[in-house]
Amino acid sequence: MLDCYGVFIFDAIYTITDEEFTKIRDLIYSKVGINLTEIKKQLLVVRLQKILRRLQMSNFSEYYDYVIGDTSGEALSELVTLISTNYTYFYREEKHFDFFKNVLMPELQKKMQRVGESQIRVWCAGCSTGEEAYLLAILMREYFGPEYSKWDAGVLATDISTRVLEIAQSGIYGMESLKKLPKYISNAYFRTIDEDQVTVIDAVKNDVLFRRYNLMNENPPFKKKFHTIFCRNVMIYFDYETKNKLVDRFATLLVSGGYFFIGHSETIGKEHPDLEYIMPAVYRRR
Ligand SMILES: C[S@@+](CC[C@H](N)C(=O)[O-])C[C@H]1O[C@@H](n2cnc3c(N)ncnc32)[C@H](O)[C@@H]1O
Repeated sequence: MLDCYGVFIFDAIYTITDEEFTKIRDLIYSKVGINLTEIKKQLLVVRLQKILRRLQMSNFSEYYDYVIGDTSGEALSELVTLISTNYTYFYREEKHFDFFKNVLMPELQKKMQRVGESQIRVWCAGCSTGEEAYLLAILMREYFGPEYSKWDAGVLATDISTRVLEIAQSGIYGMESLKKLPKYISNAYFRTIDEDQVTVIDAVKNDVLFRRYNLMNENPPFKKKFHTIFCRNVMIYFDYETKNKLVDRFATLLVSGGYFFIGHSETIGKEHPDLEYIMPAVYRRR
């Protein structure tokens, strides 16, 4: 018998005390910025059952100690994968991609040519399974056409979850994920594996660098600023204060005139001192 979260009720043997829930909730908030409300308590308990059983633990306190003691970050990554949604698909919120190719790229090209630079740096933060990052790489190829090889254009794609990054790196997707993508793009940049799956072509795979990275890291390791940052449908998990701090950090990581994209259901207000509102969910670094 399955419950509403798809877990066998007969297996659900672990219960959480208020103290344990508070400890784990505070840990998640401090490490990854996700604010679990009391409503999510049961969801957490249900989703963690399998892990506790696999690790042969007897309660949630033991699990808490395991996560804070794991210096590799893997335990935390697994925990985040369980409590957040990784939902994404190619060409999600398509107006952003049209703007990227038709407005941002011509503007950036002119600017780069003026200063004699050729390296284009795009960061896809919270990339999940990689669809957004690959599409940005594809659109840069589409924009430059035969001139593409003259440019050093790449996408850095990061997420906290190792699980989604593995899928992203494989570049293999079900047909469902490509449903919204114009045919000329899927025909040119994907190879059929079988009737249900396709893979991104190697050239595009090589344009994207996937890395595990926690957005709560207050000292980003990036040597150069980005021309564009996409951080869409990630900050929905964060509370007001965490989101504001992160947006300030993104602003410092953008070149002047660089663009910042968030999800359409998200907001950072129109009054940020360093970010000028351009259109819904698109901002430009002053
Ligand atoms: C819904 S997906 C967004 C995918 C894509 N950007 C889109 O808009 O379709 C949200 C992603 O944010 C990631 N995430 C959540 N908290 C994070 C954090 N603190 N650092 C890095 N990634 C995080 C999750 O692992 C998840 O893959």
